[in-house]
Amino acid sequence: MAEEKDKKNLLKISGYSSTAIEYILRKVNVGKIEDPDAHAVYTGPCGDSMEIFLKIEPESKEIKEAKFLAVGCAGALACGSALTVMVKGKTIEQAEKIDEDDVMNWLGGIPIQKIYCACLAKRTLKYAIKEYRNKQN
Ligand code: FES
Repeated sequence: MAEEKDKKNLLKISGYSSTAIEYILRKVNVGKIEDPDAHAVYTGPCGDSMEIFLKIEPESKEIKEAKFLAVGCAGALACGSALTVMVKGKTIEQAEKIDEDDVMNWLGGIPIQKIYCACLAKRTLKYAIKEYRNKQN
């Protein structure tokens, strides 16, 4: 438990909000979906990679489930969790309109440089949705 407290403290000092810290430490939506309807892996300019898995309702095109894996910084974990929480219950059209500022605002505070991590999450989601659309055609 002491270790968790120390991590919390470090994240707080770095400028992460309590929501972001919760997401990072609880690993919210970190994992894989077996047999996803949409999936993508993307490596951002920083060299870190994210993988997103979605379950999509075929009629309404609503995202029923979203999970992610990331090899990256604390920002990647916070942004991956935020985005996968944000898209649940949204249609794919609504989800692809979410941009990095929306992710940053949702978190309510992460270091400004982490806009790149929000961008990594956003782009990975876009590729997953693109893959889904390609499969439909
Ligand atoms: Fe690469 Fe955060 S995801 S710096």
